[in-house]
Amino acid sequence: MKSILEAPFVRELVRTISAMYAQGWDERNGGNISILLDDAEVAPYLDLNTVLRRIPIGFKEPSLAGKLFIVTGTGKYFRNVELDPAANLGIFRIASDGETAELLWGYTDGGKFTSELPAHLMSHAARLSVDPGNRVVMHCHPDNLLAMTYVHDLDERAFTRTLWQMETECIVVFPEGVNVLPWMLCGTNEIGEATAEKMKTARLVVWAQHGIYSAGADLDETFGLIETAEKAAKIYMMTSHLPIRQTLTDADLHQMEERFGVKARAGYLD
Ligand code: 13P
Ligand code: ZN
Repeated sequence: MKSILEAPFVRELVRTISAMYAQGWDERNGGNISILLDDAEVAPYLDLNTVLRRIPIGFKEPSLAGKLFIVTGTGKYFRNVELDPAANLGIFRIASDGETAELLWGYTDGGKFTSELPAHLMSHAARLSVDPGNRVVMHCHPDNLLAMTYVHDLDERAFTRTLWQMETECIVVFPEGVNVLPWMLCGTNEIGEATAEKMKTARLVVWAQHGIYSAGADLDETFGLIETAEKAAKIYMMTSHLPIRQTLTDADLHQMEERFGVKARAGYLD
């Protein structure tokens, strides 16, 4: 059997986690990632029938029964993942009961999956219901998006329009806009359910005064969504206290829609 540390999905995850840390999005243990894996991509590296531990997940997600995930561990520092992937990451299958994680690899120091597992798995289920290609859910604490939730209206249309206006390509990268949740207690099934509901209509969900969730087909897409929204939020935080002389107009944004073949969320442009 090949070493799992050489598996492309482990290498790419570790590389992405280090990049997120370098961006400053993941102080201490902030942030978490989950990736839906195919049995076929894991089988060359791992005996899929040897369960190391059974861990209750604290909720039921029958639609994910039998599915494999690699997920960051709770309390783990993104800064350290590249030094010891096996202690900081875990691979588990959701058992047929839909409420138990069957650990196949990782969490070697006795740890377990992120405290945000409800938001991750419920978001996977929600995204898969609208896009069968969805594989990745990512959460982190980017400075400027977080700052923006203190000073900007949390209305989703208003928040989205501001981001679209801050950088020309935003509307191409996230034409469906961003959804926003008011502050809620993190790590709970309630915030998981609320996040998943928001994930049905957008791949980006802002958690006010906390951070952001992103979902997509792969790590590049999920990382790129956050990177682009965070860049826009940065421009907002750099300019919003200054006298604004010009901005992108709705007519400009309509031109972008036409040029790039995207459709802005209905009702978001005048
Ligand atoms: P975990 O360490 O449990 O992944 O939590 C980090 C976090 O960002 C909580 O929202
Ligand atoms: Zn967080």
